[in-house]
Amino acid sequence: MSSTLETKILPVKPESISFENAGTTLTITDPETKQNLEYAADILRNTHHAVGFPSETVYGLGASSLSSESVKSIYAAKNRPADNPLISHVSSIDQLKRKLMVPGQEIPEIYAPLIEKFWPGPLTILLPMPENVHDSPISQLVTSGQPTFAVRMPQNPVARALIYISDLPLAAPSANASTRPSPTTAAHVYHDLKGRIPLILDGGPSDVGLESTVVDGLCDPPMLLRPGGISLEQIKQAGGPRWQNIVVAKKTAGKLEPVRTPGMKYRHYSPTARVVLFNNCGDGKEKVKAYLEQNNLQNKKVALLKTRRFAPANDISPLISYDGTLGTSGDEIQRNLFSALRALDAEEYDYILIEGVDETAEGLAIMNRLSKAASETING
Ligand code: TXA
Ligand code: MG
Repeated sequence: MSSTLETKILPVKPESISFENAGTTLTITDPETKQNLEYAADILRNTHHAVGFPSETVYGLGASSLSSESVKSIYAAKNRPADNPLISHVSSIDQLKRKLMVPGQEIPEIYAPLIEKFWPGPLTILLPMPENVHDSPISQLVTSGQPTFAVRMPQNPVARALIYISDLPLAAPSANASTRPSPTTAAHVYHDLKGRIPLILDGGPSDVGLESTVVDGLCDPPMLLRPGGISLEQIKQAGGPRWQNIVVAKKTAGKLEPVRTPGMKYRHYSPTARVVLFNNCGDGKEKVKAYLEQNNLQNKKVALLKTRRFAPANDISPLISYDGTLGTSGDEIQRNLFSALRALDAEEYDYILIEGVDETAEGLAIMNRLSKAASETING
């Protein structure tokens, strides 16, 4: 793909968009928002280019799930390995059935309570591909040869309106360059993909701040393939009896191992700085100080990102030149995580020392992303 496209950033107002009748009726009160959404939808319908758009989890890079040429431009813009399948995004159940499922195919009953509770929202489910994959309208580049396809209905009105207006299910990974932290603002997308895509819709920062939860209800017991915006506890609570035995997939997989979620084997979420994760290290005074001394970081630019228990940087070591906090609640930590990593990278920090959290509630997804971003983990 050409790397000399002019990348426009156009504003859209999420609060001017509303849906009714199970996502089949759309109203947009702000004329500029309507015009910019229609412009984006035209690009998706009439070219093979991918478009950057806001979602409640992270910004996505979308193109039609039904066109291999369009899907290729996503992989090319991100520089993403082609064996890592993509999530298709729909604006309504009606559209999911019309555009992605084969005649007579039903959504498996096991998903009913989760769809009822969490759609639209940050939950992705796996649905079966037909036995003969050529019967499916979905490009095989979306599924990378998996016997299933992944789908979610985003809650962000801009994302949903773009899908509705184009009437295309959008394959959309996070709109970062492969291996970089996921983007939570239009500026992050521009930083990574300028010159590679024609348009980014700017709808303000993402609410959740990290990606959707991916679940597989087609196997027994069901599996949590990627922790994300909906917690394991929420799934068990809303899912009813069949989701009580849900198993959390292994965090990492070897390069040659066949994996359930191919994304798990790649380097991820990494800023240029070296990220060091501190687990169960109390107020941090002992372990962080020892780390700084043992690694001779006197001449390095070192940042600290605290969560719940760490002492102020001043009380830990004079070698730390940035004292930041990600927040104390799970929501705040999720929302701030990727943008904090990007901001410190922009300031050319050499080391980012991060205080981990317990793996309960939002903590499971937070620690999943932090351990992938980290080159090293220190345990207390
Ligand atoms: O919140 C999100 O999910 C964002 C926004 C843009 O919607 N998208 C996102 O996409 O995070 P991506 O491509 O970065 O992550 C998709 C994840 C990967 O871990 C991939 O391996 C997994 O979903 N996945 C997709 N299709 C799959 C399938 N058929 N079977 C197993 N895992 C699948
Ligand atoms: Mg991603």
